[in-house]
Amino acid sequence: MEPEEAIDRLRAAFGGPPGYRTLHAKGRFYSGTFTATPEAAVLCRAGHLDGRTRPVLVRWSTASGNGRTKDTSPDIRGMAVKLAGDDGQPFDLLGQTSPSFPTQDPEEFVRIAEASVKQLTLPLFLLRHPRLVPALVRGLAGVKPHHSFAEAAFHPLHAYGWLDEHGRRTWVRYQFRPTATQADRLPETFEGRDRLAEEIAARLARGPVVHEVWVQVAGEGHDPDDVTTSWRGARELLVGRLVVTAEADDPEAGGAPTVFDPTRTVDGIKLPNDPILRYRRGAYTESVRRRTS
Ligand code: HEM
Repeated sequence: MEPEEAIDRLRAAFGGPPGYRTLHAKGRFYSGTFTATPEAAVLCRAGHLDGRTRPVLVRWSTASGNGRTKDTSPDIRGMAVKLAGDDGQPFDLLGQTSPSFPTQDPEEFVRIAEASVKQLTLPLFLLRHPRLVPALVRGLAGVKPHHSFAEAAFHPLHAYGWLDEHGRRTWVRYQFRPTATQADRLPETFEGRDRLAEEIAARLARGPVVHEVWVQVAGEGHDPDDVTTSWRGARELLVGRLVVTAEADDPEAGGAPTVFDPTRTVDGIKLPNDPILRYRRGAYTESVRRRTS
């Protein structure tokens, strides 16, 4: 399926108005910093992992393609992060709260997204595709009304090949783990349609929101090309801290298209032959074309 058809079908399913992202339509931008640990620099020569504190652009979002969705509804949430080294070349990581992805086939993903829009069509779809049930049930762990972006863990899911100074490669998968817990909840309650943005604004007024960046390091039998597999028993390493400090203006309001593209690479980072990851570049490019034209 060509990316144009995928975007047509997703936009038709969600009925998102023109000008919005085809998926993750509702979201806001934030600014902050990223600082890598020394352990990251040993395994990867990418500039943003050199241990210096660097600015980041973050977008927290809700997965629906309908930008008017209510934050009180259960959904997957997103945390997209734009990092850069000294050369200014961006490296984007797109995390989502669902800890797994159900398929290696982009068209099947589009069919699942179409079926998920209406409450009745998803069970019927699963009856016809029982093979997908275990993966979708695992993914449900990330589908909630969510109390706060600050308390959510986000999973970029795909493997990335880290190259060190000598060109040695290590496959890793990232996770953004929250440091905020239920004990840090604010005394106020936020119940409206935009409660997630309101809650995070109140939190940021009191101090930064921190996620630790961990990676799983691939070992024997861990396949970097298949996003549907889990890497059981993989070694885990703390590789940095993402600190969000303030809401930022939407760069697109000023006419600068801003895309988080998970296939953008920089020196020191290699992409796997993962059919879902490779497909995403075309889909995102087409989505940007629609929302900016
Ligand atoms: C075939 C699979 C996928 C397709 C076709 C797809 C499609 C899209 C599209 C069209 C957008 C809007 C892009 C834009 O207008 O800027 C988007 C956004 C997003 N996607 Fe995906 N996606 C896929 C898989 C994934 C996966 C595996 C993840 C996470 C691991 C993910 C996380 C996100 C996030 C976080 C955003 C919001 C980015 C932002 O805030 O600008 N997507 N996706």
